Amino acid sequence: MCGIIGYVGKKPATPILLEGLHRLEYRGYDSSGMVVLNHQGVNLIKSVGDISSLEERLEGRRLEGSCGIAHTRWATHGAPSEVNTHPHMDCKDEIYLVHNGIIENYRELKENLIKEGHRFRSETDTEVLAHLIERYYNGNLEEATRQALFRVRGTYGLAVISRREPNKIVAARHGSPLLIGVGENENLIASDAAAVMRYTHEVIYLEEGEIATLGLCGIEITNIERELIHREAQRLEWDLEEVQKGGFPHFMLKEIFEQPEVVENSIRGRLILEEGLAKLGGLERVYDHLGKIERIIIVSCGTAFYAGLVQEYMLEEYAGIPTEVELASEFRYRKPIIHRDETAVLAISQSGETADTISAIREAKRKGALTLGVVNVVGSTIARETDAGVYNHAGPEIGVASTKAFVSQLAISALLTLMLGRQREMSMVTGQRVVSSIKNLPEQIREILKQNESIKEIANRFSHYNDFLYLGRKYNYPIALEGALKLKEISYIHAEGYAAGEMKHGPLALIDENFPVVAIVPKDSVYLKVRSNLEEIKARGGKVIAVATEGDQEIASLADEVIYIPKTLEVLTPILAVVPLQLLAYHIGVARGRNVDKPRNLAKSVTVE
Ligand code: M6R
Repeated sequence: MCGIIGYVGKKPATPILLEGLHRLEYRGYDSSGMVVLNHQGVNLIKSVGDISSLEERLEGRRLEGSCGIAHTRWATHGAPSEVNTHPHMDCKDEIYLVHNGIIENYRELKENLIKEGHRFRSETDTEVLAHLIERYYNGNLEEATRQALFRVRGTYGLAVISRREPNKIVAARHGSPLLIGVGENENLIASDAAAVMRYTHEVIYLEEGEIATLGLCGIEITNIERELIHREAQRLEWDLEEVQKGGFPHFMLKEIFEQPEVVENSIRGRLILEEGLAKLGGLERVYDHLGKIERIIIVSCGTAFYAGLVQEYMLEEYAGIPTEVELASEFRYRKPIIHRDETAVLAISQSGETADTISAIREAKRKGALTLGVVNVVGSTIARETDAGVYNHAGPEIGVASTKAFVSQLAISALLTLMLGRQREMSMVTGQRVVSSIKNLPEQIREILKQNESIKEIANRFSHYNDFLYLGRKYNYPIALEGALKLKEISYIHAEGYAAGEMKHGPLALIDENFPVVAIVPKDSVYLKVRSNLEEIKARGGKVIAVATEGDQEIASLADEVIYIPKTLEVLTPILAVVPLQLLAYHIGVARGRNVDKPRNLAKSVTVE
């Protein structure tokens, strides 16, 4: 997720672009840049870091000109560096472009463009768009953009300008949001309304596949077939904060609702259905080495640790690789046994900056392990220090409680399992079954999110309890742990996650009418076992909220409340089961009046021991 802002009008563009970038900073903040056109030429400025570093670079200067585009980046391809910062240019420094999204086929496009003589400067997927547009450009920027986009696979929200047409911005949308701010003798383009609200409240949302040309006093929108689209502007009634949260009351809820798209981004271009394969570009260099690995140790903390536990079940069942999961804070002080060349140590971390996980990886490296990372923040310490890795592409996570990063970590775990499994004994048919089930996940998560209101009602009925027990077994044992963690961190309610089979060994003593149980009980290989745990709880007067598979009517007789999730392969149930638990925790936190985005005592990234 990156932020785009563009302005064409009569006022100086720089302050407008800068203000827009500030409003979009929550979408990405590892580097930013802007370009402003005037009749003499071009002013381009870029900076690594947040928007204030770009401002420092400007040192109060105004880049002359009243047409320009700007971008705040959340890196996906290529580390946060000046050369990878948008705007990107063609070979002649004539075309300037900012982009939000992922160009899936950028490698092949880049190879062909290089053969044709184009010179690339960055490692980004975006730069291919600038060169492709250059290839088709002969004075009509809109037509060249259209031709270029015909060749592109992936997602984009983009804005492009040309030195030869100084009062024009061309914008296009496919999979990444864009809207036009309609003003008097001026128009703006932006990734979201927050960036334009200071100048206008009249907006036109671009639809999928549309291309818009913005001039001083006119806007033309066409679809990919060149048909003219007429759409009235609508008036924005939201205030700024509401807009940044996309209309949601909290970032946490927004991020929960982003999860279908997050899974799409995490798996995009990485699955081959016909061959039942996952292709992870970041692991290609070590692919042969991975084929020889005999043991994997996963190191991580908090929610990422629970993602590791799910990964352990997946790898052992589908890839046959002995796997251990270690809290990074423990691993760093143990004397881990690592067999050089045979052991891979995998760090899972949203931020890539968690101090304990960094130390664990350094220790593993010292001992000669192959080190791998599953990281969301591109260019972070773990991403840089591991031998190879996979990026989540989940976009910035603002809420302190991890939600979308976790779901993305689980999706990547499934891809990694598929890749390592197919390298070993997994059959193509099994691989195909897993691939097609993974592809259904975004739609299935959308179905679960439709139950938000009924989950809120359950949350309101249960928000006065002071203790909760979360139970799950096998793949969903880590989800019980994660559900309990979500509840404690944002509502400050005491919650314990347990393996359902352990209940009889102690926690059952806690159960009475004041100690509700949240049970994850999908129709899987341990369904009957967990169901009998529920019977034991009911026999002791306990209250039960069950997360069960659609169509399971039996469970309703054992539970006070049932939240249904769609049917999927057992290995993928955690990805669905966690979503209602996130919503439950969120609504209980809100009902208790907590600051769910910034729980007391917690920081988003734990960079100290
Ligand atoms: O950035 P990381 O994934 O390495 O962070 C690990 C934990 O600090 C993090 O998951 C933490 O537990 C979250 N607050 C959980 O919601």
